[in-house]
Amino acid sequence: MKIYRSALLRFAPDGSPVYDSDGLLAVAPDAKGQERVVAAGSWQALQAQYVNQPGAALIDLPGRLIAPGFVDMHIHYPQTDVIGAPADGLLPWLEHYTFPHESRFHDRAYADSVATFFLDELLRNGVTTSLTFATSHPASVDAIMHASQQRGMRMMAGKVLQDRNSPDGVRDDTEQGLIDTENLIERWHGVDRLGYAITPRFAPTSTPEQLRGAGELAAKYKDVWVHSHVSENLDEIRWVRQLYPQARSYLDVYNGFGLMRERAVYAHCIWLDDTDRALMRETRTAAAISPTSNLFLSSGYFDYLKADAAGLMYGLASDVGGGMSFSPFRTMQAAYIVGREQHSKAGLSLKPAHLWWQHTAGAARALGLEGVIGNLQPGCEADFVVINPACTPLLARKTQQTASLDELLFAMIVLGDDRLIEQTIVSQAK
Ligand code: GUN
Ligand code: ZN
Repeated sequence: MKIYRSALLRFAPDGSPVYDSDGLLAVAPDAKGQERVVAAGSWQALQAQYVNQPGAALIDLPGRLIAPGFVDMHIHYPQTDVIGAPADGLLPWLEHYTFPHESRFHDRAYADSVATFFLDELLRNGVTTSLTFATSHPASVDAIMHASQQRGMRMMAGKVLQDRNSPDGVRDDTEQGLIDTENLIERWHGVDRLGYAITPRFAPTSTPEQLRGAGELAAKYKDVWVHSHVSENLDEIRWVRQLYPQARSYLDVYNGFGLMRERAVYAHCIWLDDTDRALMRETRTAAAISPTSNLFLSSGYFDYLKADAAGLMYGLASDVGGGMSFSPFRTMQAAYIVGREQHSKAGLSLKPAHLWWQHTAGAARALGLEGVIGNLQPGCEADFVVINPACTPLLARKTQQTASLDELLFAMIVLGDDRLIEQTIVSQAK
């Protein structure tokens, strides 16, 4: 058993923060060798029970904060090298940068090299789980799954389905794409900490036949994830209306093919209407909010007030490479700004602990992994970060002066980046 002593942040079931300025986190392997949280709370209350247990190793981290590993609900590992590509919005960005780059991932050695860099970069930024797009090439899934398995990470990924309106090199075949998907589910889903996601890129790049097949797989494999994009950009929405004139809305296209259910995750969800939001809630479909991407591609602002009024599940995501940063601190900062911009009249200021929850326990809940990751309550898998709140001169000065948990968290959200993450600890399954 390992006993960590430091400040400790975790979340109650209602999403409110639980904070111990002098905390204790006890971690031990379960019967299968998976490290889990055994106890979390105040040092005062717990130390007598845990510190003197035979074999207990004490790790004292003065001045540090232990918090759940961050969960990135939507990212594209093959777009690691596409970050910062200038374009006039989503569709030109896809055509000029993203598709040509993704065409390289038929080559397993190339995919391996990017997957390796990507996972190292996630960990350097304190992200312990992500739901990631691969590309349309099955080898791109093998690469990210293999590299995640080697690191013991809980990761979800899927082969992109895109059988039309896509150039040579990334376009797949309708039937073959579905056969490859099912083979990859059988090969990877539930192996160690890995999960598979059925991944139609978005409605414009799949034929109705391909979306129908994806929906059939989603019904057959109920605990596999479904992962796509919806309602990101107005030009995209006009295009969907031409391609699927019978659908009530863009979101309704996916619903018509059985692609809305628990563990279905849609990135962006900016231009939904109230009927769409009600459908999200009824089907327990989740939204992955990607604010740095939405700002970079001028897509629009996620509507937090309407999402909360409708009771839909959501969490935060970087959407690299449309997104501008791997850092959860940059994403939380952008989410704060988006909340203010979208609701400047209503004056919505997302609370710092709520932003943090959206990138940890809230994201885990939206992914159907509540109580598994994204939190440090007893029973959770022990994925966590050790934060040094004094990692820069300005942060050291600022965090010394904070008078509440919200002020401390907000100082890090506004001023922080990868330098805050001193260690990322991934619960080993072996
Ligand atoms: N819509 C379809 N493909 C993509 C993509 O790669 N990134 C983003 N942001 N939106 C998309
Ligand atoms: Zn995306």
